[in-house]
Amino acid sequence: IAPVITIDGPSGAGKGTLCKAMAESLQWHLLDSGAIYRVLALAALHHQVDIESEEALVPMAAHLDVRFLSVEGEMQVILEGEDVTGEIRTQEVSNTASRVAAFPRVREALLRRQRAFREEPGLIADGRDMGTVVFPDAPVKIFLDASSEERAHRRMLQLQEKGFNVNFDRLLSEIKERDDRDRNRAIAPLVPAADALVLDSTSMSIEQVIEKALDYARH
Ligand code: CDP
Repeated sequence: IAPVITIDGPSGAGKGTLCKAMAESLQWHLLDSGAIYRVLALAALHHQVDIESEEALVPMAAHLDVRFLSVEGEMQVILEGEDVTGEIRTQEVSNTASRVAAFPRVREALLRRQRAFREEPGLIADGRDMGTVVFPDAPVKIFLDASSEERAHRRMLQLQEKGFNVNFDRLLSEIKERDDRDRNRAIAPLVPAADALVLDSTSMSIEQVIEKALDYARH
């Protein structure tokens, strides 16, 4: 069975960048589990499925026609044959994703799909419950955190780079709202696994985070 390194934490802590760097450095596979919840949210919006209805969402989750491609080192997300790489990153999809992710049977329906990413030579798994639920036997677990202000600030810079004009206060309140929902849900709440290294990246550069994480993974 292939090794897994789990990287969990709240939105904007830098998991995406860290996971990509680790996957490149180790030449391992990468699972962006958040993208799966985002794709499910987008599919529900596209097909006008009631996002409050667990009943309606479970079969969608079970039959989700999604593919992840790696194109020149960048992940491309294909939903029902259509490239939705950009579309799954909107605020609306982010918020919808965290709502659909709160349903236990929706999460259950996505478990096998996530575990299938575990292949030789190894997997870097990015999410909220990678170390607690999806890969509880992972030998290396990291929980990457940062203050909500710092995370909102990073998200703002990221969005500005892509040409989006965003309001910091709005971003901060959306991040807090989504965190609250992720932390307080009944199933797979966002908490560090008991055996995870907790890294607070608030006053660390991304290079420092990558170095620390790779050191820890090698020890
Ligand atoms: O990019 P960002 O960190 O903001 O979010 P994401 O990792 O793409 O995840 C989007 C949403 O999916 C989160 O707010 C969670 O509610 C949900 N999610 C989850 O419940 N479990 C995971 N393993 C990954 C994401």
